[in-house]
Amino acid sequence: MRSLRRRFHIHSSSSSSHRILFALLTVLVSQALQAASLVAPRSNCYAFDNSSRVVDFSSWIGHPFEYDGKDSDLVLRFCKDVESRSQTGYVDFGRFDKFNYFVSGSGQVDFVQGFYNGDLANCEHSYDKLGRTAQVNIICGSCLNGQCTGGLGCICNVTYESSCRVFLELAIPCEKPGPRVFKGFTVGFHPRSWELVYDGMTQLGYEKSHHEFSFGTEQTHVTLYMTAIASLSTLVQRPIIKVLPENGLEVKVSGSGATGSPPTTLSPTMLNVDWRCEKARDTPYEVNITIPVEGYEPIQFFLAKLCENRQNQNGDSARGWAIFGVLSCIFTVSSTLFCYGGFIYKTQVERKRGIDALPGMTILSACLETVSDGGHSYTRQEDLNTTFASEASWERSSASSQGTSRPNERKYGAI
Ligand SMILES: *[C@@H]1O[C@H](CO)[C@@H](O)[C@H](O)[C@H]1NC(C)=O
Ligand SMILES: *[C@@H]1O[C@H](CO)[C@@H](O)[C@H](O)[C@H]1NC(C)=O
Ligand SMILES: *[C@@H]1O[C@H](CO)[C@@H](O)[C@H](O)[C@H]1NC(C)=O
Repeated sequence: MRSLRRRFHIHSSSSSSHRILFALLTVLVSQALQAASLVAPRSNCYAFDNSSRVVDFSSWIGHPFEYDGKDSDLVLRFCKDVESRSQTGYVDFGRFDKFNYFVSGSGQVDFVQGFYNGDLANCEHSYDKLGRTAQVNIICGSCLNGQCTGGLGCICNVTYESSCRVFLELAIPCEKPGPRVFKGFTVGFHPRSWELVYDGMTQLGYEKSHHEFSFGTEQTHVTLYMTAIASLSTLVQRPIIKVLPENGLEVKVSGSGATGSPPTTLSPTMLNVDWRCEKARDTPYEVNITIPVEGYEPIQFFLAKLCENRQNQNGDSARGWAIFGVLSCIFTVSSTLFCYGGFIYKTQVERKRGIDALPGMTILSACLETVSDGGHSYTRQEDLNTTFASEASWERSSASSQGTSRPNERKYGAI
């Protein structure tokens, strides 16, 4: 049982007129500030009209409309709830909570709002246990019966379909429609996500460059996934990238999204953004990505990129290895040629044969001689050592225990 019983109370007319004035001002100011860019409305209180233009009613949230009935009054709080108020208390006729509860209407009705999950008592058998429900048919302008012209509108009439469902006709001066929204279009960081653009509207955080949403210096690339309704996907064109300030951040785009391939819901297109910091900066670079859509307002969002330090070109290390490879190749070839030339010189001019003819052989043999001489000297040194018995006792004993003299070991011990 979720029946709400609250005290009945009547709005004083003066406070309500102040509120109306305030709401009117808010509406005017918000309309003046509304830019042409397609940023998602700041609440779920918006709808698309029959030509898919977004109409944002965020400034109307909670605005009360009252209708005096015989037994009970009906109060609609815009984008909040519908309740009937009588001497016995309040009965909740549903709440507004999802954006798809607010859609465009047909005929005389411009918009339709659904309110669900009201009081369940005596309405347990309503569809899907939604309790009491209400439907508000919104007419932009004045009522069909000529009521409420001017002002912030009113409820024209109320019809109870049953004790569980009520229809209201509301006439209000509607908000001016915004630009045409390319509905169904999404941009996200994963194939099935829409962090940046949802339903053709740029989400908060990406509608302009935000420091808190910026990509770190170390992140050198990001992949964006785009989807669109298949029947409209051919309208999507190649993205335009702009960086602010123009110099200091190199941005390259690739992938199916960069060439303007049509994205569909089942096969998203990819826009790979590779960036490299050329100049360090305290504030992030602004990367402005605009995706033109034929016949619609372009999709536009901003990525912020931090550049705390300069980054080397991707190709730098690869180029280093290439130079090393070429140099070692030159070295190998030239030393081979040198050896070969030396061998020929020795065999032909110095008339040497076999191993003696190899270049550097004289040096090598000289070296070997020196080493073997050194070996002799070590032996001699050890002979000397034997006379200082106490100091070299472990060396000698190990040498004598093994019996034979091993030149390598001796050399090691001597060093
Ligand atoms: C959309 O609605 C307006 C009135 O709200 C009407 O004049 C217009 O013809 C409608 N357009 C379409 C395509 O239904
Ligand atoms: C309001 O009254 C008019 C005629 O008076 C009627 O056509 C319309 O259906 C009523 N609206 C609702 C929501 O019952
Ligand atoms: C972003 O780029 C688009 C298209 O190049 C341009 O029209 C728009 O003015 C730019 N916006 C900002 C804030 O730089």
